[in-house]
Amino acid sequence: MSNPSGTPAASAHPLPSYLQADHLGPWGNYLQQVDRVTPYLGSLARWVETLKRPKRILVVDVPIELDNGTIAHYEGYRVQHNLSRGPGKGGVRFHQDVTLSEVMALSAWMSVKNAAVNVPYGGAKGGIRVDPKKLSKGELERLTRRYTSEIGLLIGPTKDIPAPDVNTNGQIMAWMMDTYSMNVGATATGVVTGKPVDIGGSLGRVEATGRGVFTVGVEAAKLTGLALDGARVAVQGFGNVGGIAAKLFAEAGAKVVAVQDHTGTIFNSKGLDVPALLAHVKTRGGVGGFAGAEVMNAEEFWGVDCEILIPAALEGQITKDNAGKIKAKLVIEGANGPTTTEADDILNDKGVLVLPDVIANAGGVTVSYFEWVQDFSSFFWSEDEINARLVRIMQEAFAGIWQVAQEHKVSLRTATFIVACQRILHAREMRGLYP
Ligand SMILES: NC(=O)c1ccc[n+]([C@@H]2O[C@H](COP(=O)([O-])OP(=O)(O)OC[C@H]3O[C@@H](n4cnc5c(N)ncnc54)[C@H](O)[C@@H]3O)[C@@H](O)[C@H]2O)c1
Repeated sequence: MSNPSGTPAASAHPLPSYLQADHLGPWGNYLQQVDRVTPYLGSLARWVETLKRPKRILVVDVPIELDNGTIAHYEGYRVQHNLSRGPGKGGVRFHQDVTLSEVMALSAWMSVKNAAVNVPYGGAKGGIRVDPKKLSKGELERLTRRYTSEIGLLIGPTKDIPAPDVNTNGQIMAWMMDTYSMNVGATATGVVTGKPVDIGGSLGRVEATGRGVFTVGVEAAKLTGLALDGARVAVQGFGNVGGIAAKLFAEAGAKVVAVQDHTGTIFNSKGLDVPALLAHVKTRGGVGGFAGAEVMNAEEFWGVDCEILIPAALEGQITKDNAGKIKAKLVIEGANGPTTTEADDILNDKGVLVLPDVIANAGGVTVSYFEWVQDFSSFFWSEDEINARLVRIMQEAFAGIWQVAQEHKVSLRTATFIVACQRILHAREMRGLYP
């Protein structure tokens, strides 16, 4: 990879006091990505520190009464990384391992992603440190409503618009929309996206991220001469993103040979029956126990013979310890931040083409943008119209990024950061500093 100024630019500013240099977590991964793009920003590099500090961080206590009468407290966050290009946009994650560093990194990747596909948003993200599987439906509703009230001072249809992420879904978005609406005294459908269709949601939103993963996969396959028909695919995470992506690849003639989720790893060299697996996951909560496959050791998953690997679970999954084993020619990042910087370099050196999260999983936010636009105008589009617009935006964004990668001889990740960070920092420069 060429780099016009040699080594990555070192930060001229110390870390904020709430971060520790030896415990940076996913935020550290993001900072390294920013350092890699800095030499390509030209005169805009003057503003780069903007990208290294979230604009606003809110940490909230979320107390709820459990069904057994005791009171439980959970840690919640909403981080607005950058609002130069528009209101904040990004999901809400419910997971027991959520940390501030993680939510900060996810909010920053949203800034980059929104700029990469050129939707008029800044980047934000939220989360609660909770294992929602341990809560009853009533507890989950109380948790969601209290969290929404706590972050109510930051969110709003023109300020910051949450959406689903890991362990959150249309029902959670419906409760968030209702809570915010009750607090402001009017139904505000545009405060969240990923809502059920009956209350201002968009057709095609549930499938959008997986469809975007598939769309960029098809484009990359065309550009590299990889035939999709018969291509072997391995998928980590079989939820919203991984499940839909697997379905679309299988429909295009590819063979989904291995799937891993939190309940196990399964393998079938002839190709798994994806519709049957989706039905199994719906009733059983995971791929574990699926009849049409062999069980595989979790670590073996990374070395599976395949042409396409789709990490679509959590971040930090492809590391220096397993990157060397990967046999795929194409890695499509459905998850956010699944590849560490060291692993990214190993894959690059091996000639594996990585389609980075910041473009590969941007389909979800693109249709969220459509949902928000439809809510403002109270005029709803057909599913065909939505899918066609989604595919066009993803194809155009990917083609532009591919060209920048060729021009500068950099990875697609750095190319996406070049395109996106230039847009963000140009907006920053044009707006100027207030006051
Ligand atoms: N849903 C969206 O629209 C969207 C958009 C962009 C990015 N993403 C990203 O995609 C990823 C998946 O999100 P999702 O919405 O599909 O979530 P989901 O909750 O629907 O599915 C998550 C999947 O990951 C699996 N998983 C969890 N822990 C695991 C582990 N330790 N090992 C293996 N598998 C594990 C789960 O079993 C499940 O299959 C996340 O990184 C999320 O940030 C989601």
